[in-house]
Parts: sequence; structure tokens; C-alpha cells
Amino acid sequence: MSNIGNYEERYKTFDWSQAKEHLGYSEGDFLNIGYYCSDRICEQGKADKLALIWEGPDGTLKRYTFADIRVLSNTYAKFLKDLGVEKGDRVCIFADRIPDLYISLLGILKLGAVAQPLFSAFGPESLITRLANAETKVVLTTRKHVSKVRKIKADLPALKHIVIVEGEPKKMGEGEMLFNLEAAEKVEEFTSFAADLETPSLLHYTSGTTGQPKGALHVHSAIFAQAITTRWVLDLNDSDIYWCTADPGWVTGTSYGIIGPWSLGITQVVLDAGFIPDRWYKFIQDHKVTVWYSAPTAIRMLMKQGEEIVKKYDLSSLRYLASVGEPLNAEAVHWSRQAYGLPFYDTFWQTETGSIVISNYPGMEIKPGSMGKPFPGITATVLDLKTHEPVAEPGKVGLIALKPGWPSMFRAYWRNEEVYKSKFDKGWYICGDRASIDKDGYFWFVGRDDDVINTGGHLVGPFEIESALLEHPAVAESAAVGKPDEVNMEVVKAFVALKPGHEPSDDLELDIMNFIRKRLSPLAMPQEIEFVSSLPKTRSGKIMRRVLRAQEWGEPVGDLSTLEND
Ligand code: PRX
Repeated sequence: MSNIGNYEERYKTFDWSQAKEHLGYSEGDFLNIGYYCSDRICEQGKADKLALIWEGPDGTLKRYTFADIRVLSNTYAKFLKDLGVEKGDRVCIFADRIPDLYISLLGILKLGAVAQPLFSAFGPESLITRLANAETKVVLTTRKHVSKVRKIKADLPALKHIVIVEGEPKKMGEGEMLFNLEAAEKVEEFTSFAADLETPSLLHYTSGTTGQPKGALHVHSAIFAQAITTRWVLDLNDSDIYWCTADPGWVTGTSYGIIGPWSLGITQVVLDAGFIPDRWYKFIQDHKVTVWYSAPTAIRMLMKQGEEIVKKYDLSSLRYLASVGEPLNAEAVHWSRQAYGLPFYDTFWQTETGSIVISNYPGMEIKPGSMGKPFPGITATVLDLKTHEPVAEPGKVGLIALKPGWPSMFRAYWRNEEVYKSKFDKGWYICGDRASIDKDGYFWFVGRDDDVINTGGHLVGPFEIESALLEHPAVAESAAVGKPDEVNMEVVKAFVALKPGHEPSDDLELDIMNFIRKRLSPLAMPQEIEFVSSLPKTRSGKIMRRVLRAQEWGEPVGDLSTLEND
């Protein structure tokens, strides 16, 4: 029997007070995610239970009990407090998936500060937009990544400390210090900040069509939604060994790679290494992973490797598989049934929603290719593209929309009230995705409603790429769009018009690609650059990405009446 039991029944009877009860919370109780994920679990008699089994790139294993996580996150909280970090200050964690990333995040929350994890592959340009906007006070990073922070430090007046938590640089720069968690004096007791339901907790940056990335601000009460969805969607129980393959630089890696499992006292495993199929399978075999939460791109890559390699490993520990981040094609669901004897269950949500909002559930029939149905407590619909009224006919495409009010919903885009407000209309939060609902209430994803590119489950904003392209000395104008890709679903393609005196060449293409990879990230790097003499624009001078995108996807271009140079 699954934890959720009968979905339809749950949906009818659920209200969010049950999610609070599920964590033993009553109105007015002490609340702090850091405390809930460590001290509280120890108080439940699970101090000696393993919280984290970590495997490093070279195969090194480290094990942490909930008691370790409690004391070590206290140690981080005290260290940051002594450094002058106060309630509400933003502390960025910019590191690979090292244990410190997971532990310091809880420490930051215990202090009442706001944790801002950033993906370690980000280059200086991606970093500065996010650190400047958040006015981040402290960056926790490692020897491997500190040089990228150094490059931009002079332009970050709010940044007071750069703390190197792993490795030792040959030379230390101004405002830099070392912190070694293993060597530090351990802090047995730390009084966590008594957060209320609305106290800010995490800041995750996400990309939109226009402007720079926006910081989705979450609050401590998000834990109620993260815990209950972990229980009912991921079906986690006390005896599970859980693996979430997402990096905590992205929301999946915090909501379901830290808070969800630890709030329930569940053992999780982390592999701090890139994607290597053999390594992944061996990891599942070695640690006897039971529940695996991953992403369609990874599944498609595993599919490409075929079933023979699956047979080399004993994956019999697996009992439940789920996926998020991009459309999970029906073929991938069929393949996983065949290869692992288990289907992947698709889940849909966003940085802004903080927790799973539409999903397939254990026990509910999967329709391969569908995202499933709204989570209990979530009212979801699709709205007419123009009128924003709910679409009545089954199968008709509209905008996915949710009734605001669930606990893990974002509370703001950091210092960007205008864009935040633009996400709401007629009492709905509009996700920015298109879908249809069939006669049985299942949601079918169609595509994004904006120009954001989803590559391998990671959103990248065209504006950010185009701004960086314009900094290249040869580039006069540019447009970035997604083009179809068999594995990553989409990859970035850039259209570039050159400045006088520059000629298209393979060398220049490579140079521009590398320029973006270093400044932004490997994800944002165009996989192809097409040199053009000019770009399609509206009469008001706005580049029409939609025309370029339609070309790439072989789709009709639509209304071109506003096109200038036609
Ligand atoms: O476009 C949808 C896609 O990913 C977007 C959210 O991205 P992000 O905020 O980075 O969060 C990713 C992980 C929670 C959505 O607006 N997306 C997410 N899940 C699915 C999906 N597209 C199709 N199917 C999904 N299951």
C-alpha cells in the first residue's frame, strides 16, 4: 500500500492543516527548517540513523548521522553568527555537491539567514547578476571555484566575506578566510532562530524571457508542503535509501534533495560526480537505493546506453522512480518499465511552486506522457490563452494555472515586485507553461508559453545569453533560442550578426561558444551559432525570437504583421 492511498479520496478530503499535523506542528509552535531537519529528528530517537551517505568523485565515502548533521549545522550557524551574519542576510553557497553544501544550508537557516545556493558551474557573469541582485553578504565556496568570485568581488559592495570551505588556495585575497568544518570546534548546542511561517528561508534564481534572472523567495513554512509531497509523491518511508540526482543549486536539489527527505528522517545518498551510466548504476547497487528521483534527460541518456549495461548491475533494491524538470516522453516510461521493471512517475513543478504541484502517484494509473493530476490541496487548471478564463473543453490547450495559497509557494521575486505581480491574473498564479487536461483530469504538457529555453531540465534565459553575447567584441546583434535535441530536449542556438570588420568562421564560432561557457555556464553555451546579416525585428525594434524558434522546430511562424524587415 502506498503512503498516499487512494488519490481521489485524498484529493477530496485534504486540507493543508494535515500537512502541518504530518510534521507534528501546531499553531504557534517553534518552526525552523534547519531545526526540523536535524534536532527534531534526533529528538524522535533517530540521532544515530544515517542522514547522508556521500560519495565523492574519487569514490571516497563519508557517512553522517542525524546527530552529526545536527552538530555540524550548529557549527556552521555559530561560525556565521560570529562572522556577523544576521537574520535575513543572504548567504550564498557556491560549491560542488560536497557535504558542506548540505550541512551549511541547514546552518544558514538555523541562524535565520537566507540561503542562496548557486550552481557551481556558473561563470562570473552568471554569478554577478545573482549576487548583486541579492546583495549577498557572504559566499561560501571552495578552492576550485573561488577564482570566479574573485573576478567580480570588486563590483559587489554588499559582499563582506568569501569563505573557502574546502581546499586551500596558494594565496588568500582580501576579505577571504578558510573554514574547515572537520577541524572546527563542534557546537553541541545552538538555539535556532524562531522563524514564523513567513520568515524567508531560501532564494533560488530562475530565468524568464525578459530581464535578468529573478530570485524566487521561499519561507520556512514551505517545509509543510515539501514534507507531505515527499511522503505521498515520492512515497518515502523510514527504511528507504533515497537518491535525488539534482544539484542543490537548483530547486529540486533543496526541496527534495535536502528538506523533503531530512524533514522525514530519511537516509539519502549523494553522488558528487557527473553523469557516467556505469557509475550511476553501481551507485544504486552499492547503496541499495530504493527510491530514485531524477530527470528525463538523464533517463534518455541511460536509454541510449541500452539495456545490456543495466543487466550488469543488481538494481533489485529499486522500488519507486520519479522524474521532474522536462517532459517525460511516453517512450521513456515504457523503456524504464522494460529495463528496470518499474515506470518513472512524472512530477511537475517549478522554482516558484517550491514543491510538486501536478504529479503521478503510486497506485494511480499512469498515462505515459501525461504529468498526472494536481496534488491534494492544489487547485490547478488551464486558462484560455487570451481571456485567462478556465478552459472548459477537455483536450484544449491553455496556460497551466494554480490557485495561490499552498505553503511552499514563492512569496516574491527578490526586489522585483512588478514581475512578481505579472505572474497573477484573475485570482490565478500562471506558471508560464501550456498544457491540456483530458476528460479524466490528467494534465498533458505542451510547451512553455515564453522564450525560456529548457535544456536538460535547466531553464536558461535568452536575455542573459544575448547580453553576454553582446559583450563579445565581434557581436553586433544576437538572439538565443532553443533548438530540438534528442537527449537534452532543447539546446541553445544563437543567431549572431557581426560588427563590421568581422567575418564568419569556424574559429569565431568556437570562440563565441567558449566565451559564453566561461562567462555564464556550460548549459547556456550555444551548441550552434548561425551567422546572419540581420535579425527579424518588430517595428519597435524588438528581436522576434519566435520566428527563429519556429524555424528551428519546423513550426508555423504565426502572425508576422508586426515584423519590421519583412
Ligand atoms: O516548463 C516547466 C518545466 O520546468 C519549468 C520549471 O523549471 P524550474 O523552475 O527550473 O524547476 C525545475 C524543477 C522543479 C516548468 O515551468 N517542467 C518541470 N517539470 C516538468 C516540466 N515540463 C514538463 N514536464 C514536467 N514534469
